[in-house]
Amino acid sequence: MIDKFGRKIDYLRISVTENCNLKCIYCIDENNILNSCNNDILTDDEIVKIATECERLGIKKIRITGGEPLVRKNIESLIYKLKCINGMEEIYITTNGVLLHTKIEDLKKNGLTGVNISLDSLNKDRFKKLTKFDKLQDVLLSIDKALELGLKVKINTVIVDDINKDEIIDFVNLTKDKNLDIRFIELMPIGAAKNYKGTSNEEINQIINKNFKNIKVENKSKRSGPAKYIRIDNYKGKIGFISPISSCFCEDCNRIRLTSTGFLKKCLHYNYGVDLKKHIRSNISDKDLNELIYSNIYDKPQEHLFMEDCDNKENKYMNQIGG
Ligand code: GTP
Ligand code: 5AD
Repeated sequence: MIDKFGRKIDYLRISVTENCNLKCIYCIDENNILNSCNNDILTDDEIVKIATECERLGIKKIRITGGEPLVRKNIESLIYKLKCINGMEEIYITTNGVLLHTKIEDLKKNGLTGVNISLDSLNKDRFKKLTKFDKLQDVLLSIDKALELGLKVKINTVIVDDINKDEIIDFVNLTKDKNLDIRFIELMPIGAAKNYKGTSNEEINQIINKNFKNIKVENKSKRSGPAKYIRIDNYKGKIGFISPISSCFCEDCNRIRLTSTGFLKKCLHYNYGVDLKKHIRSNISDKDLNELIYSNIYDKPQEHLFMEDCDNKENKYMNQIGG
């Protein structure tokens, strides 16, 4: 469907849990208490009901997020049910990769199209320092298994000043022989991330330009997100930049978000939206649910303004929003 600014909205991000099996320094802090009560979380049937109405409104791509989505029980069967929605074309997942290698075969069998894997360090000790868990080997195994199975793989990397800037080139080098894309995401001042200074994508791009020759700009693909891509000539994978801080990409925004507690969010940055769980649990008709979703998508805000003070700014943490 088309929102009031003429943008085509065809992508739904569904967070299925706030819980996570890592504790990344810019995501979780002592003010962020994990474990929403089970009853607060949408059931599979409730998620499928909402996704079905979204599909009728033109949503063709779903991305499952968290927290860490693979810690939700029976995630494989939820993926299957979503893939079975008539007209739904693509189901992706964004994961930290720790459990992925144990589930990936079933996920693929059940209809998963591709995975985005979050990874901020290729160094074992630093990975542990950043995430509080010694799980780098599991993540690397997951990346290789996903590639072996022929799934589309993108790595999401957040570069934080004074922490992992020295690994930019190592991440770029992953694209040489592996058929995966690596995306550098600018740190957004949300939740625990307010305590850190992210490295700008402009600076990252400069570092890449100093170290590599023959860099080509890539064209945007269908239903692609906010990333702008380049490629080192003859390298298998692309390098993407997601720059919510240094350049606004909201003009092309194509997405809407559903939190694990059933709130339909119009934009990552604001708390605007509607509590769909409340309506579903009061037995709203499919027609009324459809109209409620329509009016909220139609009314998406024009853009995020991370660096400005504004009303209705989201004060939830990233694991509660789903990225
Ligand atoms: P593709 O479907 O592969 O395009 O992925 P994606 O970039 O939409 O999804 P992913 O879950 O990998 O998100 C990567 C990063 O981009 C996360 O840090 C998100 O928070 C950020 N991001 C995604 N969508 C938006 C958005 O609409 N606004 C802002 N500010 N950031 C976003
Ligand atoms: N700013 C930018 N990206 C973030 N992520 C988590 N918190 C932030 C933040 N404050 C990233 C994770 C993951 C993706 C889904 O979101 O690193 O790759």
